[in-house]
Amino acid sequence: MTNHAIIVNKIKKFNKTIEVSGDKSISIRCVLLASQAIGHSHIYNLLESDDVINTLKSIKKLGINFKKVRNYYQIIGRGLSGYNTSRKIKLDAGNSGTFARLILGLLVNSQNIITILGDKSLSRRDFSRVADPLKLFGAKIFTNKSKLPVNIHGSNFLRPINYIENIGSAQCKSSVILAALKTPGTTKIIAKKSRDHTELLLKNLKVPIKILRKKTYDYIDINGISNFRGFNYKVPGDISSAAFFIVLTILTAKSKLILKNINVNNSRIGIIKILNKMNAKILIKNKKKYKGEYVSDVLVKGKQNLKSINCPKNLNSMAIDEFLIIFLAAAKAKGISSFKDLGELNKKESPRLDIAVRILKMIGIKVLRKKNDIKIFGNPNLELSGKFNIKDFKKDHRVFMMSCIAALTLGGEWKIYDKNSIKSSFPKFLKIIKILGAKIS
Ligand code: S3P
Repeated sequence: MTNHAIIVNKIKKFNKTIEVSGDKSISIRCVLLASQAIGHSHIYNLLESDDVINTLKSIKKLGINFKKVRNYYQIIGRGLSGYNTSRKIKLDAGNSGTFARLILGLLVNSQNIITILGDKSLSRRDFSRVADPLKLFGAKIFTNKSKLPVNIHGSNFLRPINYIENIGSAQCKSSVILAALKTPGTTKIIAKKSRDHTELLLKNLKVPIKILRKKTYDYIDINGISNFRGFNYKVPGDISSAAFFIVLTILTAKSKLILKNINVNNSRIGIIKILNKMNAKILIKNKKKYKGEYVSDVLVKGKQNLKSINCPKNLNSMAIDEFLIIFLAAAKAKGISSFKDLGELNKKESPRLDIAVRILKMIGIKVLRKKNDIKIFGNPNLELSGKFNIKDFKKDHRVFMMSCIAALTLGGEWKIYDKNSIKSSFPKFLKIIKILGAKIS
């Protein structure tokens, strides 16, 4: 099997109802919390992607049993001290920053040295952002100049901390929350707004966690060492995966798409807010509350007259994984779109801000970049011909998927490398896009 996609035809109009796979952030959190619960948990619609499979393999190495039964995963937790860490263990996080950072929080009480490894992309990412606060609990953590591999040797004498999370990183916040679960006393966190799935899951499990929501920061208090029981959970669809189809629909005239059962948690709907500000009219329908999260259908219509946006910075964290595809929409919008303070984008699976600028220029879009700000000079008449090769993007799944949507909506002959990258977050991407009528070989 080849590891690239060839796209030489634009997609024709479609009118379909689809479901995307389970949310990656919630899937990883469910597996980790189930592995620390007491007794059986059943997780339905768990995302079966490499990031989640690496999470499952790792809890197994830590002595936690799981199996797939029909349409759910059964995980048998042994409580907050249930990991077997009496010997040295190496855990391979693969491409997953979320797993690598969250598991460190759960290993602050490990009895022996546990090593976290990752692939090439994960090994260039920063781990001091979690190592520094976790050390304050009393764990010993050794990074490789702030990078992987990271060694953690936990402590029996953990102490609660006061922590201010200023990046707006849910991974950092969650890692500290998970460490706080293991620590007697009250850990106090002041965290810049970011996705809050960990807090919502814990609240649902009746763990003593208090959340005071203010405009730009949340104030979170956690009392540690209260065990919680196994749980049942149905993971909703991933809005970060849906995002590619949302933009595909908007850029395909006369098309209609209904995406079923999407997670529309407030901290995740930046993409919808941004595209609607650009005139897109995406609708959230049949919204229901499910264990603290909001799940709904998302309705999108093909629309040609997008307008530019001056993107408010408070939407940055809410759309952090969607900017590549948002930039593509901006390339087709009328006017100059402006996005500010996106330094975090360069710290993802690839330097996404740099790569976005490269791809936008390649397709003939004028871009002005000033450090972490960019201006995109949209061209509603953009139509491509000629050949486009997309490679050297550090196997970043979202660069691959964004490039497919560009190819399917702008024309030209595209060869997009590293197709296997989609396995980390959305292995069904190509199958679903073919259901919508895409021709990809
Ligand atoms: C995630 C948080 C975000 C996001 C990542 C998933 C999570 O990262 O980009 O894909 O599940 O907590 P940061 O917390 O580093 O911003």
